[in-house]
Amino acid sequence: MAIKKVMVIGAGQMGAGIAQVCAQSGFEVLLNDRDKDALQAGINGIEKLLTRNVEKDRLTEEEKAATLGRLSLSNTLKDAASCDLVIEAVVENMDVKTAVFRELDMYTPKHTILASNTSSLPITEIAAETKRPDQVIGMHFMNPVPVMKLIEIIRGLQTSDETYEAIQAMSLQLSKIPVEVKDFPGFVSNRILMPMINEAIYTVYEGVATPKDVDQVMKLGMNHPMGPLTLADFIGLDTCLYIMEVLHEGFGDSKYRPCPLLRQYVKAGWLGKKTGKGFYEYR
Ligand code: CAA
Ligand code: NAD
Repeated sequence: MAIKKVMVIGAGQMGAGIAQVCAQSGFEVLLNDRDKDALQAGINGIEKLLTRNVEKDRLTEEEKAATLGRLSLSNTLKDAASCDLVIEAVVENMDVKTAVFRELDMYTPKHTILASNTSSLPITEIAAETKRPDQVIGMHFMNPVPVMKLIEIIRGLQTSDETYEAIQAMSLQLSKIPVEVKDFPGFVSNRILMPMINEAIYTVYEGVATPKDVDQVMKLGMNHPMGPLTLADFIGLDTCLYIMEVLHEGFGDSKYRPCPLLRQYVKAGWLGKKTGKGFYEYR
């Protein structure tokens, strides 16, 4: 079954990026969010990035118009009835995600594949909430989606070969490079990245160095494009905390204990770039 129409749920930084890349690659896209302001902010952000691409001669005016023409907005999951693939990119919370998947299972036709952009949550458990667990899969894009080449594809225990092959082919159509991984907490990407970020937060918490100096060490000493605390602010400190909690609970190992300073920042509403304050200030 060819994938022609895609719904992306969640118009935050990931959902908007995923919708943009799908529309630029020729797919019809419905961008969904339950929050109308977030939906508008998502589409405004896409338009801005497309305009920048035109200014930089990476896209023609016609391609920009065609891309925007393939994008529509939605605020009800019932609209998924017309889609061949749904990619969920809502908050990293199991209860919220499973509620979305249960609804999607009711509204979508039998052939529709249900994918999650989760950073760490078990695909097997999300799949078990539906009557089509063989058609549920993890499609983990990296931030910023239009720039990063990787899609980590996570197979739940029940995911069929047919579903995997359709998503692998779709990833290539998006000009991304898919890598297949098994369904373990944090998969590969965040099992390795997030403990490094958490450790960077511990070094600040223990007074070893300032955020700026921790970032300088990793940028200048290890050639990382962003220091770990800048990256944490960029990802969202709430998302970083949720991922550490999944690793901690999933492996039952104290080496994944979220740093208390990370918890405190999230409690304060200092979520990083998206709220204007995290380890740095953004104005
Ligand atoms: N959205 C879309 N495009 C963006 C962007 C954004 N937020 N930020 C930057 N870009 C693009 C721009 O097109 C820009 O090119 P132009 O200026 O010509 O338009 C290009 O990237 C380079 O940007 P900059 O010159 O401003 O900055 P840079 O050279 O430092 O690159 C970066 C920016 C690509 C984000 C780079 O800093 C980087 O690779 N950082 C690390 C990103 C990373 O590790 N991502 C993974 C996060 S973890 C994750 O995603 C998984 C998870 O589950 C949490
Ligand atoms: P975000 O906070 O920027 O956006 C989430 C959006 O989902 C919000 O606009 C919110 O209104 C919407 N939403 C929440 N519940 C909803 C529902 N029930 N129905 C419709 N919309 C709903 O978050 P984000 O950073 O884009 O992360 C989204 C997902 O992508 C998370 O699972 C996260 O772990 C994953 N992810 C994040 C990153 C990253 O770097 N931030 C990278 C890869 C994967």
